[in-house]
Amino acid sequence: MTLRLAQPADVEALHALHAQAFEAPWPAAEIERLMHIMGGFAVLAEADGPQGFILTRTVADEAEILTLAVAPDFRRQGLGRALVEAAAQEAARRGARSFFLEVAEDNPAALALYESTDFQAVGLRRAYYARPGAKPADALVLRRPLNSRGG
Ligand SMILES: CC(C)(COP(=O)(O)OP(=O)(O)OC[C@H]1O[C@@H](n2cnc3c(N)ncnc32)[C@H](O)[C@@H]1OP(=O)(O)O)[C@@H](O)C(=O)NCCC(=O)NCCS
Repeated sequence: MTLRLAQPADVEALHALHAQAFEAPWPAAEIERLMHIMGGFAVLAEADGPQGFILTRTVADEAEILTLAVAPDFRRQGLGRALVEAAAQEAARRGARSFFLEVAEDNPAALALYESTDFQAVGLRRAYYARPGAKPADALVLRRPLNSRGG
């Protein structure tokens, strides 16, 4: 598996990965827009083909994970952790000193991944995620400090 910064030509691959990971996938145009906003970047994990990606935004000394997806066939092999660490390093290289994200409180896999990569809860957004036919889910706001090497 290799990790590299995603390029404009990767947008369809990122969209396909997102669609495998989320019930309401973002349109390819939205992923492309977020890759190109100021400070936006994506890291792609691939072997024979795309396996997962993380989309991140860095503004001044803060970075934010916008989305993270690993294809179902490649989960529990360390890709999610590797993508978080690669994004942390790149964000730190760009000057970020804090890494933030929002995660649904009913997503145990993501919560476990972020706990294992040293994020800590710093806030709660009530009823943040719509759940068709069910109560909206709260979001936890997590933060991890970054040093100049991303750690
Ligand atoms: C969350 C997600 C990105 C994790 O990717 P992954 O490649 O499977 O994660 P990793 O293999 O790197 O797991 C790292 C650690 O996270 C935890 N973890 C990951 N998935 C888990 C699960 N299903 N159950 C419990 N713990 C889990 C474990 O501590 C794991 O370490 P271990 O395998 O040594 O025990 C993946 O499940 C996914 O794409 N889910 C759908 C989209 C999503 O929820 N994205 C996050 C939105 S905030």
